[in-house]
Amino acid sequence: MHKITKMLHERIDIADTHPVVTPIFQNSAFEAHSPYFYTRKDNPNVVELERVMSVLEESEFAVCCSTGMAAIASVLQLLKPGDVLVVNQLIYGCSYKLFQRYCEQFHIDLHFLDLTTEAGILSMPKNVSMVLFESPTNPFVHTLSIQQVATVAKAKNPNALVVVDNTWATPLYQQPMKWGADIALYSATKYFSGHSDVMGGVLTTNNAEIHQKLRDTRFYQGAVMDPNSAWLLRRSMQTFEIRMKAHAETTVIIRDWLEKHPGVTKVYYPNIDGVQLTGYATLLFFDLREDLIDRYPDFIQSLKWFDTGTGMACVTSMVARPFTGSHASMADAEKLQIGLTSQLVRLSIGLENTQDLIDDLSTAFAVIMNH
Ligand SMILES: Cc1ncc(COP(=O)(O)O)c(C=O)c1O
Repeated sequence: MHKITKMLHERIDIADTHPVVTPIFQNSAFEAHSPYFYTRKDNPNVVELERVMSVLEESEFAVCCSTGMAAIASVLQLLKPGDVLVVNQLIYGCSYKLFQRYCEQFHIDLHFLDLTTEAGILSMPKNVSMVLFESPTNPFVHTLSIQQVATVAKAKNPNALVVVDNTWATPLYQQPMKWGADIALYSATKYFSGHSDVMGGVLTTNNAEIHQKLRDTRFYQGAVMDPNSAWLLRRSMQTFEIRMKAHAETTVIIRDWLEKHPGVTKVYYPNIDGVQLTGYATLLFFDLREDLIDRYPDFIQSLKWFDTGTGMACVTSMVARPFTGSHASMADAEKLQIGLTSQLVRLSIGLENTQDLIDDLSTAFAVIMNH
């Protein structure tokens, strides 16, 4: 036997190793008698993470995708030309853009409505095929009644699908299927990762037919989560609850501090009703006092512990301006229509010492208010 032949076939037998943490299955192919077949279909690390997600969501099924946007795009593929998609008008900027592009290309009738009001919910078209929304919303963290939206949508069309982007509540604080949703979706890049080091998307459902369709879409379009990302996310999930609780505790203290600050005219924090939404962490929005808006660059420059950029829900704090950041892909007129101006600042509260964050914000406000 040539040493190259021997080298090519050299591998350890993992059947009898019993590790306390699942190793990374960094392989694309499995032997013909393996139940895994091919990593684009299934991989042990991805399957393990999907089980973790189903446990947390208390759902029958979970499907992991390469990013949150891939998860949203997979959901859109449940629609066909001529269908009607209703989306709440307050939504992450890239989702907004994706809906516009996708619906135009595939002849889907798209309606952006204000689903935070009863009138908005009732104005859903009769032939609605799918309604999709975030709660709490990005931006402004408004909350929607999942039950009310689902009841009206299904009264108008019993086959209508209700999809909730639950990224900001997480299954720890809100479980959309309990209130009538068919699918919950997540950017796993946010809280599930929590460390700004991995991207992912998760879809959960209790409907076997939807689950199969989402799996087929993932298999054929190839937006699968890679084993390394699944492994990192699975590891992050071990500290998920403890991180969320720490984020939540600091967020409330900073919300109260901002509310009393003279440089701030409004703080946005969701309505935790204790029924649908039982907690909240991290993402805070506030309006800068109007005469300070032009000083925003100095404000962020003065902050020591808040990194700038689009990252959110991670161990380190972040500051951003949605007008030019998360919602940059929307036209200025579209942003103004939903009340999004350059006055709005977004904070993502990390796990730093709370007093350090307050001191940091205090210094940055002092810099822009004393000149
Ligand atoms: C609510 C929400 N959904 C989906 C996404 C997209 O997720 P990803 O960046 O993982 O593709 C984001 C990203 O910020 C988001 O805020």
